[in-house]
Amino acid sequence: MKNLMIRPITEGDILPHDLLLSADPSEEAIEQYLPYSTLYLAHLNDLPVAEYVLYPHNTEDIEIKNIAVDDAFQGRGIGKALLEDAVQRAIDDGYKCLLIGTSNASVGQLYLYQRQGFEISSIKMNFFTDNYPTPLYENGIQCRHMLMLTKVL
Ligand code: ACO
Ligand code: ACO
Repeated sequence: MKNLMIRPITEGDILPHDLLLSADPSEEAIEQYLPYSTLYLAHLNDLPVAEYVLYPHNTEDIEIKNIAVDDAFQGRGIGKALLEDAVQRAIDDGYKCLLIGTSNASVGQLYLYQRQGFEISSIKMNFFTDNYPTPLYENGIQCRHMLMLTKVL
């Protein structure tokens, strides 16, 4: 995508709290994975519009723990560009598998991730009901289980 610049966050950048929380409503979960991850910021014409977070599990597997595009900029291909960027960085860094997880209710995200070559590889049953204090809903469906998807690189 033209004019979209994606780069690791630096000390001078403001942490994109709202974007992080739009992908993962648990502040506690974010605080747990963020220190061990790299956050990538996407700027469109110098305006921060999106982010994603890469968390390495080991030398072979790395996971997109969080990905979000500002509401006003969704549906323009930025999410797809972020996924392509994550794939390329994971390949360049020598990883074998890129993982991403989303809820059973996240129909659009499941569409997007599978269109980008991720395949459902496991299900963490009751992940959302066990780990989140209040029930979460998307598309009128309760988020109960975490579907893990994997792209072999
Ligand atoms: N519902 C239906 N279709 C969707 C949705 C959706 N929610 N999101 C994307 N798509 C489709 C688009 O229609 C498009 O289809 P096409 O290629 O056939 O035209 C394709 O997916 C690519 O869409 P993009 O425009 O690249 O996606 P976008 O920039 O809107 O970003 C994202 C997608 C990141 C999911 C965005 O909607 C968002 O930030 N949502 C809120 C936060 C969120 O749910 N993040 C993911 C949580 S899971 C995790 O973080 C690991
Ligand atoms: N994509 C997105 N949304 C859909 C789809 C679809 N393919 N099908 C139904 N919906 C949604 C509707 O938008 C509606 O949502 P709402 O209640 O929020 O407004 C809701 O589901 C109910 O829709 P209906 O109009 O009742 O569904 P419809 O009469 O279209 O029947 C069916 C759905 C049976 C899947 C039909 O599309 C069909 O015959 N498809 C081809 C055959 C098929 O795929 N069958 C299922 C295979 S699996 C199996 O057979 C066990």
